[in-house]
Amino acid sequence: MDETVNSRILGIGHHVPERVVTNDDLTRYMDTSDEWIQQRTGIRERHYISADAGPADLAVPAAEEALRAAGLRASDMDLILLGTLSPDYDFPCSASVLQRRLGVRGMPAMDVRNQCSGFLYMLATADAFIRTGGARYVLCVGAEVHSTGIDLSTQGREVAVIFGDGAGAVVLGPESDPKRGILSTHIHSEGRFAEKLMVEAPTSRVMPRVTEEMLNTPGSRLWPRMHGSYVFKHAVTRFPEVIQEALETNGYTAADIDLLIPHQANLRISQMVAMGLELPEEKVFNNIQRYGNTTAASIPIALHEAIQAGRVRPGALVCLAAFGAGFTWGAALMRW
Ligand code: ACO
Repeated sequence: MDETVNSRILGIGHHVPERVVTNDDLTRYMDTSDEWIQQRTGIRERHYISADAGPADLAVPAAEEALRAAGLRASDMDLILLGTLSPDYDFPCSASVLQRRLGVRGMPAMDVRNQCSGFLYMLATADAFIRTGGARYVLCVGAEVHSTGIDLSTQGREVAVIFGDGAGAVVLGPESDPKRGILSTHIHSEGRFAEKLMVEAPTSRVMPRVTEEMLNTPGSRLWPRMHGSYVFKHAVTRFPEVIQEALETNGYTAADIDLLIPHQANLRISQMVAMGLELPEEKVFNNIQRYGNTTAASIPIALHEAIQAGRVRPGALVCLAAFGAGFTWGAALMRW
């Protein structure tokens, strides 16, 4: 067998629940409008689970599709990673639940709790395992159920309108051509901004972890809290910075990118990043209009749809980038 130099995406899949929730649907719960949401975020609709389901349930069909596309079985995986901020349980990890649902056992399984940057953190981890011989095949699934964890009242509208449920999966494997596959990954964190975008409770800092007060107070600490403009400002700085880092590491410039797939946080963020890098519209893929922000799932869902739309040709230079809570951010550059 040829020596492994890089890792490469061998298969990809995604799954979103059937139930579509439009901006107009949200006006039944809160004081908002289709116009406000579209103008500020680009989002037209998102998908919500309709039955009792967790991220592992959404992850299964996405993972199975990625495995089929790779021509591999779940039992071939040497490592299972699941990126989520909405795990099925506090513990154990959702990756273990997914492993059980895929009918396999033995290989390590772990969650990556890095929110919107979760997919990039998973990719960097999987790539390192494969390059160093720690694993041959790795399954990475981003899976989120936001709809059960957002405040759908007017008080929570700034956050609630942004998020949607969904899952996206890739299977990574070895690549012996140094010019092909994942060329480099870059991940970062700056913890001093941890409270700018957070869900505070349930928390091990108080006893019990969920209090009556949390359950009954409007604007409860159980709901996500976001300093929106602050997050926005940091996102439009960190995205281009980490993309440039990835390009420079490999001796490229922004003009060499064939397709940029930014984490789908907000269409205005993607547009500002593209403008800053002087990338024309056809070199940036966005689908937030139909899914909202699915955090760790957004990049694999977008990448899969870009491939299905014929926007990723063999040999294309593809850049993935993300920014989110922590703050954390990252990028990956790959030659398809
Ligand atoms: N409908 C109607 N009005 C609303 C809504 C809504 N859904 N939400 C907020 N408003 C109101 C506010 O109450 C506020 O009203 P006020 O001015 O009377 O106080 C006003 O709209 C705020 O408007 P803007 O300042 O124009 O809002 P902005 O342009 O900053 O957009 C947004 C807000 C969309 C949240 C933006 O800040 C943003 O996208 N931030 C980044 C989000 C992001 O990328 N998050 C990171 C990923 S998440 C993760 O990692 C988990």
